[in-house]
Amino acid sequence: MSVRLRKLSYALGAEVCDVDVAKPMSERQFGEIYQAFLDHGILLFRNQDITRERHIEFSRRFGELDRHEALPRDRHPDYPELLMVTNEPKPDGSPSDTKYTGRQWHSDMSFTTAPSLGSLLRSYAVPEVGGDTLFANMYLAYHTLSEGMKKLIAGLHGVHLSGTRKLANDNTGIDRMHEQKKLNPPVAQPVVRVHPETGRKALYIGEKVKRFDGMTEEESRPIIEFLVRHATRPEFVYRHPWRKNDILAWDNRCVMHQALGDFDETQLRHMERTTVLGTWSGYIIT
Ligand code: OGA
Ligand code: MN
Repeated sequence: MSVRLRKLSYALGAEVCDVDVAKPMSERQFGEIYQAFLDHGILLFRNQDITRERHIEFSRRFGELDRHEALPRDRHPDYPELLMVTNEPKPDGSPSDTKYTGRQWHSDMSFTTAPSLGSLLRSYAVPEVGGDTLFANMYLAYHTLSEGMKKLIAGLHGVHLSGTRKLANDNTGIDRMHEQKKLNPPVAQPVVRVHPETGRKALYIGEKVKRFDGMTEEESRPIIEFLVRHATRPEFVYRHPWRKNDILAWDNRCVMHQALGDFDETQLRHMERTTVLGTWSGYIIT
C-alpha cells in the first residue's frame, strides 16, 4: 500500500494522510514517506495523539537525533531529544524561556557546524486562532535568482549567530540568549548549499545571518536583506495553521521557517520538537 499525499501549497509541503506514526511501519512504507519528505520539503501528519516516546522513536527513522547540547535550557527535563517551544510560564510564574523561539526566519541549528537535517514539531496545545508557522522553499528561492546574483553569492559564507532575537519588547529569554551566545560561537555557512540527498542547490540564509565572512556588516546587510525578502515572497511560502496533535516534519537543508506571534499570548501554545542531526557544514569564526 502506498502512502496518500495531499499538497499543502504551490511552493512546498504535503500532508501524509491516513498514517499513524506510532504504529509499526515497514521499511518500504517509511521509504515512501522519506521520499515524500525529500520531494515536498515538509510533511504534515494530523491527529497524532502519541506519547513522547513514540514521537522520539518515529523521529529516529529520519536519522540520529540531536540531544540539544547547544540549547541546554530548552530541553525537556526528562527527554534531551525534545526541545520545548512553549509560552507556559515557569513554575515560579516567570515567563517561559522559549516563548519567542523561532520568531525570525531561520533553519534549525544553522549556528552550529552540524546544522540539522530536519525537525519534527508536535503540537500539544494551540491557541484558538493564530500561532501559525511560515515555511519557505529555498530551492525555489535559489533557482529564481538571476544568473548575476547566483554568481555573486556563489562563494559567499554567511556568519550565523545563535541567540538572535527579533522581539526585544521585554526581557523574556535574555539570560538564555546570553547563555546561547556563550555556548555557540559564530559559524560561517555557505550561502548556497548542495542538498546532500537530492543534489539540488538551495539558498541557505536567514535572519540569524549577520554578515558574510570577509565582508563588513554594512556591505553584507543589503544583500542579506534582499535574499531573505526574495526567499520569503508569498508564492514561495506555506503558512501552517496548527491543530492540536499535528506533527510537522521539515527538511532544514532546503526549507527555512518562522514562528508568528499572531495570537493571544494569554492562551497556551505548547510545542515539542525533535531535531535530526545533519552532516558537518561550515566553520567556526574566531
Ligand atoms: C522550531 C521553531 C516554530 C514554531 O521549533 O524550530 O522554529 O512555530 N518553531 O513554534
Ligand atoms: Mn526553528
